[in-house]
Amino acid sequence: MSLWGGRFSEEPADAVFALSRSVHFDWRLAPYDLRASLAHLAVLESSGLLTSEVSAKIRGALLELIEEVASGAFTYNDTDEDVHSALERGLTEKLGEIGGSLRAGRSRNDQVATDLRLYAIDAMLGIAQMTIALQQALLSKADEYADAPAVGFTHMQHAQPVLFGHELAKHAHAFNRDLDRIDDWFIRTSVSPLGSGALAGSSLPLSPEATAAALGFKKSAGNSIDAVSDRDFVAEALFVTSMIGMHLSRIGEEWCIWATTEFGWAQVSDSHSTGSSIMPQKKNPDMAELARGKAGRLVGNLTGVLTMLKGLPFAYNRDLQEDKEPLFDSFDTLALVLPAVTGMVSTTHFDRARMAASAPTGYSLATEIADFLVRAHVPFASAHEAAGKCVALAENKKIELHEISDADLSSIHPALTPDIRGVLTVEGALASRTTYGGTAPAALARQLAILKSEVSAFEANFSAKSNAFSGMMSA
Ligand code: ARG
Repeated sequence: MSLWGGRFSEEPADAVFALSRSVHFDWRLAPYDLRASLAHLAVLESSGLLTSEVSAKIRGALLELIEEVASGAFTYNDTDEDVHSALERGLTEKLGEIGGSLRAGRSRNDQVATDLRLYAIDAMLGIAQMTIALQQALLSKADEYADAPAVGFTHMQHAQPVLFGHELAKHAHAFNRDLDRIDDWFIRTSVSPLGSGALAGSSLPLSPEATAAALGFKKSAGNSIDAVSDRDFVAEALFVTSMIGMHLSRIGEEWCIWATTEFGWAQVSDSHSTGSSIMPQKKNPDMAELARGKAGRLVGNLTGVLTMLKGLPFAYNRDLQEDKEPLFDSFDTLALVLPAVTGMVSTTHFDRARMAASAPTGYSLATEIADFLVRAHVPFASAHEAAGKCVALAENKKIELHEISDADLSSIHPALTPDIRGVLTVEGALASRTTYGGTAPAALARQLAILKSEVSAFEANFSAKSNAFSGMMSA
């Protein structure tokens, strides 16, 4: 059933209807559409456009529809074009002609923009909570391995020893930035387009400010033309979800490497790995690989929407209907990946002995020699040169740095006294990295304490936002 009978003498052709139709994917906006309709109804009533008798009937039918949509008792049919027309059909089936009253002062253009914002806020709150759960899993693993040394890498080559808890905690920092981005996204997303009508506002005595407040938005849009065509919040949500996906993919890559036989650092749990249909010995880190792979899809959704928006004239154009599937897909994808990665992180066992054995190898303590010389007032460039000579000599003699003889040390540089061996240990190297954010045990303990309080603050912030949102939805 189309919403525009009057000036048309023909029904849309089948191909037109098929291409126009969005109800099979935008149906998930139904609860938000109904909630926004309640807010719009309240304004139509308080401004006297609807009698309280008619309003009460419509309110009753909307409340019924909320229940019926939730239970599945009411859903779209083959003739519905989109969620808005399907729900108007639902109202009309219950109320007859007065079911069409809510279209007064409202267009699908402001309606869909409002619904999509409400949906995105709801979905983003879920993503924030799942991200926090992953951070908590990373933090408890970081605690578990806070005292476990391992070699750290740059360019995938042995660089300097680090504590493995430091490696794990770094990912929680990345997600802190994502949560910060989400928090910031709320500022621009919490703006209500309702009341903008098709593009120009309304001649009816509506109150966009009142509907904005009723729906929990911080404010009402300042320009009705912008309001119906602004999808910045969609593009930004797709960017934020891409960043989360990108961070997940980097975890995935590390897990894949750490789980190789060659590394042998990570033992992924049976519950979070998969087997092979032909090779009985295989235990594959598929969750890590899917985390890595899904990031591509998330970035694809972002580029698709940005490309659709590029050069699009204001105000509403039907191109905008293409904003939904990528947004839904990105939220759905993360809702699958985040819990799987959280489970994988919590149930992975790391081999302390193998990691500790790696820590001093590949001459990862060479920087200690340079720093030792700098403390003896040797300019860093000369100190670096001398440390490099120590590595060349050790490599030549197939010995470790601490095995270089006193005579060889002093011939390389007079300041290389035998007490250099005091810093040529993994423990010494770790203990000396005391700068803020460094890997020394004390610095790591402080880092973990700060991280935990930051994650708790995010948890409190997003649970307050979630409570406010559910309160609004059930009001
Ligand atoms: N299904 C449409 C969308 O998702 C709703 C808005 C349609 N508006 C219009 N003027 N045809 O964008």
